[in-house]
Amino acid sequence: MVCKAIPILLLVVLGVSRAEAQQTAVKQAADFRTVVTPFVQRYCIECHGEKKQKGKLSLAGLTGDLSKPRELQIWQAAHEALEQREMPPSDADHQPAAAERAQVVKSLAAVMRAAGVAPDEGKWLAPIKGNYVDHRALFSGKATAGAAGTNPRLWRLTGQAYEDYFDKLIKRYKLNLRNYGEFKLTAPWNFTPERDFVDYASAHRVGEAEIEFLLRNASTIAGAMIKRHSVSHGSFGAYIKELATVIKAGGAATAEQADAALAPAFEGLFQRPPTAAEAGRYGAFFRDNVAKLGGPDAVGQLLTALLCNTELSHRVEIPAGPANRLAPRDLARTIAFALTDDGPDTALATAAAQGKLATREEVAAQVKRMLDDATIAKPRVLRFFREYFAYASAPGVFKDEVTLFQELAVRGARGWNADFFVSDADRVVLAALAEDKEVLRSLLTTTKTHALTVDPLFQIHTKKDAYRQQKKTFEADEQTAMKIYGISIPTRPDWDPHRLYDLPPEHRLGLLTHPAWLVAQSGNFDNHAIHRGRWIREKLLGGKIPEVPITVNAMLPDERHRTLRDRMRVTREEYCWTCHKQMDPLGLPFEQFDHFGRFRTEEMVVDPEATSAKKNLNKDGVPRQTLRKPLPLDTTGEVSGSIDPSLNGPVKDPFELIRRLAASEHVEQVFVRHAFRYFLGRNETLADGPALVAAHQAYRKNSGSMRALVTSLLSSDPFLFRTHPSEKTSP
Ligand code: HEC
Ligand code: HEC
Repeated sequence: MVCKAIPILLLVVLGVSRAEAQQTAVKQAADFRTVVTPFVQRYCIECHGEKKQKGKLSLAGLTGDLSKPRELQIWQAAHEALEQREMPPSDADHQPAAAERAQVVKSLAAVMRAAGVAPDEGKWLAPIKGNYVDHRALFSGKATAGAAGTNPRLWRLTGQAYEDYFDKLIKRYKLNLRNYGEFKLTAPWNFTPERDFVDYASAHRVGEAEIEFLLRNASTIAGAMIKRHSVSHGSFGAYIKELATVIKAGGAATAEQADAALAPAFEGLFQRPPTAAEAGRYGAFFRDNVAKLGGPDAVGQLLTALLCNTELSHRVEIPAGPANRLAPRDLARTIAFALTDDGPDTALATAAAQGKLATREEVAAQVKRMLDDATIAKPRVLRFFREYFAYASAPGVFKDEVTLFQELAVRGARGWNADFFVSDADRVVLAALAEDKEVLRSLLTTTKTHALTVDPLFQIHTKKDAYRQQKKTFEADEQTAMKIYGISIPTRPDWDPHRLYDLPPEHRLGLLTHPAWLVAQSGNFDNHAIHRGRWIREKLLGGKIPEVPITVNAMLPDERHRTLRDRMRVTREEYCWTCHKQMDPLGLPFEQFDHFGRFRTEEMVVDPEATSAKKNLNKDGVPRQTLRKPLPLDTTGEVSGSIDPSLNGPVKDPFELIRRLAASEHVEQVFVRHAFRYFLGRNETLADGPALVAAHQAYRKNSGSMRALVTSLLSSDPFLFRTHPSEKTSP
């Protein structure tokens, strides 16, 4: 039915660029022998020949016949290595000119396509590839590479936003629907936090199965609305009167009644009149159905169709206005959904309707208004920080809680509970946002935290004994959390969830030393220095680390009697170190904390002698418990390979590392790049350079104001314009 319009629209919008790219590639297909072979001879064979096979790879004697699986694998790897400028290595004697490289990349791509293998074009769209665009070129301040603007697209709403719409509709029309628990009308997509941003416009397209799901939701609501019509003139005056008329007329409903009801139905569901095209399409559909099916069924069909409208599941970002602008209403929705899970508020909707979103300044004024207004919840801004710092996954990390509670001497706890830490970290972020001064720097260096902000009361029953039980567990949780933070806070009623408490300043410095981050970046039994280092390399230094090669068995030796640093010696092998030198020395300073996030001064490891000593054995000769011993702690590390040389050099502990990073302008720019990605829902390209420079300047000029940064991004050309794909050059 009308829902079919969604996939068609998707194809129209998203298919354009791909089809065009394919055509050009076929046109430019060059002969493997005349382009690729000579190139390989000149620049690769010295290291990848018959004799010398660096990385165990030989490129000699290959014919470009990609029907052979081995050749296919090699050329795919070579294509990627060339495209990413990884090969030849920067220290090789012969370096190809940029044009030569571009030509061979194109030829290889064409050869692959001719063999029926599409080089994975989509991979450049993934958040993990964001840092591959050259940082210096981006921030050079020069406008390069064509018009800045985002391709036309449909960007699926967050699951939350989709669900909120139905919640509101149910309330507005007082529909008799149980919209909770198993009956809740949910979005068929939802994103769990990962290492990178999850809500990219390209990350998820609504497919067939989901469209059926959306259709079912729509018909459930439509059914409930039909049932509700009879009370429309009573106390439920909100009902769409003209629709009620059609329903009541039953088999006698007329085309005139149908026509009169169409616009009110649009207003009732979308708070706007139908466009001319919609009036034509839906009008004919409705009139037809009224004649064939009678009033009630025709209204059911119409409502179902309307509730499948693309705009309930997507932001429609297709240029409609002059000069590739978004239509004012679409722009208003794009702004609203960039900050909230809700459509435009009254002021924004009014500005759109009155043509007051026409200039950059007008857009900026609306964005600023929303950011400044504390009464408007902006969940997407908080979510940016959650996803950027990647701390929200802490509760998902399983821990051996028995050992912890023994060590902490805490009794009666519900279990290991990292929810506290995530919620506390959220409040730390919200406090920094409210302050809005040097936001990144303060998050990296604050010595304060909120504490125990998960409100335990919501779980407490009114029954007295249940209350007493819960109270005990809460107190145990409280003790655990405080011991991990290393603070003592007043107990109820003096404890205040809205207050920032001081952490020991010599033990903590910012979110990277907050238990939420430390636990999220840890394993079940250990710290995860490699993850931590990778996070810093990518999120603060803007570096790029190739994925773990499939030939590597990425496991540390299971030597519980050694320190983690010691066990990580396997990554120091020459081959491993090419990647791991970029991660490990950045993560190892955080050995300052144990994997529960506690500050420590020595590292406890298994003591095999004491464990197997006679007095620890039971009568069957099995150790009664695993005994541990302390080893000296080493918290040294190093920043290397940063394009800002002032960052490079050894550090003695995490605090020195964090202070150095937090003071850096380069780090700030990398942060701005991530903000761009999140709020634009895509990776930056060279054409976005001026927008990034402007956003960074806005942040700087306003003393590190996140509001200024976001305002700049949401009024930038890439946010306001939708370029036709052919006008744009790829990164
Ligand atoms: C100066 C020596 C040198 C030259 C020249 C060189 N490579 Fe390499 N290449 C290496 C080394 C060392 C490795 C293994 C370590 C690594 O991956 O960095 C490697 C690895 C590779 C890999 C495997 C990467 C992976 O994903 O595992 C590919 C593919 C590759 N090279 C392609 C090329 C191509 C194509 C050229 C010519 C444009 C080239 N190399 C030129 C030294 C060289
Ligand atoms: C081409 C780059 C590269 C090379 C070469 C490489 N690694 Fe890694 N390694 C990675 C990346 C990326 C990760 C994942 C980091 C993360 O996300 O936590 C990783 C993770 C690991 C981990 C942790 C796995 C886990 O999740 O617990 C170990 C252990 C490891 N590598 C060992 C090695 C060893 C040993 C070698 C050499 C034989 C090696 N690696 C070579 C890139 C590399």
